[in-house]
Amino acid sequence: MTSKHPETLALHAGWRRDSATNAVAVPIYQTTSFQFDSSEHAANLFGLKELGNIYTRIMNPTQDALEQRLAALEGGVAALGLASGQAASAYSVMNVARAGDNIVTSTDLYGGTWNLFANTLKDTGIEARFVDPTDPEAFARATDDRTRAYYAFARATDDRTRAYYAETLPNPKLIPFPIAEVAAIGRKFGIPLIMDNTAAPLLVRPFDHGAAVVMYSTTKYIGGHGTSIGGVVIDGGNFDWEAHPTRQPMLNTPDPSYHGAVWSQAVKPLGPIAYILKMRVTLLRDLGAAMAPFNAFLFLQGVETLALRMRAHSENALAVANYLAERKGVTRVIHPSRHTGVGAQRTARYLTKGMGGLCGFELAGGVDAGRKFIDSLKLIYHVANIGDARSLAIHPASTTHSQLSEAEQAATGVTPGYVRLSVGIEHIDDIIADLDQALSAAGA
Ligand SMILES: Cc1ncc(COP(=O)(O)O)c(C=O)c1O
Repeated sequence: MTSKHPETLALHAGWRRDSATNAVAVPIYQTTSFQFDSSEHAANLFGLKELGNIYTRIMNPTQDALEQRLAALEGGVAALGLASGQAASAYSVMNVARAGDNIVTSTDLYGGTWNLFANTLKDTGIEARFVDPTDPEAFARATDDRTRAYYAFARATDDRTRAYYAETLPNPKLIPFPIAEVAAIGRKFGIPLIMDNTAAPLLVRPFDHGAAVVMYSTTKYIGGHGTSIGGVVIDGGNFDWEAHPTRQPMLNTPDPSYHGAVWSQAVKPLGPIAYILKMRVTLLRDLGAAMAPFNAFLFLQGVETLALRMRAHSENALAVANYLAERKGVTRVIHPSRHTGVGAQRTARYLTKGMGGLCGFELAGGVDAGRKFIDSLKLIYHVANIGDARSLAIHPASTTHSQLSEAEQAATGVTPGYVRLSVGIEHIDDIIADLDQALSAAGA
């Protein structure tokens, strides 16, 4: 499949027809296991001399078609489907960092990712250093670097920062992350930038700006219909792991769990896929957050219309932002189109293909007005999700971000009266009519 156009890749990349039946739609391979051709074939598969199906925890043809399609759309080399976006975030970090290591992450994160980093990964011994992405140099300052030990977090004795992590278009602030600037800083140190691109598929391709790894919660826009939880990690194939043996020991030292394989060496004959192959055959093998074949099938259905939907989401959210800006009682509208200063510069640089479907606002009446607004919605659903074809709304301070302390909420940009909208693809007149009546009911 040679097209560069996402509309075409979304329908054709990674699949032509089923080799056994000629089926055009990707079949749901609902099987746990795959018969080996011979004992030699089995040994070759287990020994990674040959790639192929063994057991659905590790790979499956339905997942494979989705993985190839998403890798092609993203401009990456290979991908790994997982059971959830949370699994994808966790694996993307655990693939390069272990106890005693650290990562530097943007503060502007989904609440679940914040908890994963601040608590669960911390308990495994991996430290997350949170920095404000307003200044890309904050990533450099938080990086362990013997030659620059005067920096705030840096220790003189070790260089154990293994990855940078951020979201492309984090809510609630909706200020695009400086991908190129931070990726360039990381590359100087031998540190890959992992981007959570959940909110901006097809709008931003982080590999084009120097990121090394992209992850998604496919639960959101990629699925697009609110039916399945899933995640994916995509390898850009553009990071030279071998060139950084001390900075990236997990890719460059013998792995006792795989007969002492040194991943950057062992995988070379198969292409620049050391990072993602290691994740599949170690983390997925051991922790087992596999994507169900049925869910992979549903994500494939979603991907087929992703380009159309992202266009419609972007147009409708922009129209909603413009409407809210004129609405009495709305004190602030948060949408990429409304930024000034550095936020406006980043929007102009990164969001050239559309600004996505998210939009936030604050009501003069604070928390009470926010609750009243949510309870008055008739068309728009009150749910925790984003990226559904339907319009969705939530009050983050009392829901998605409620497990964070007030200071942590403030650091991620959540204020008490903030309402988040994930604008769907319904007719814009119907979306605005529902907002209008609910705002009136809330006294705005
Ligand atoms: C930006 C972002 N990343 C990761 C996740 C986690 O994904 P999942 O719910 O599929 O585990 C979410 C979910 O809300 C998200 O919005």
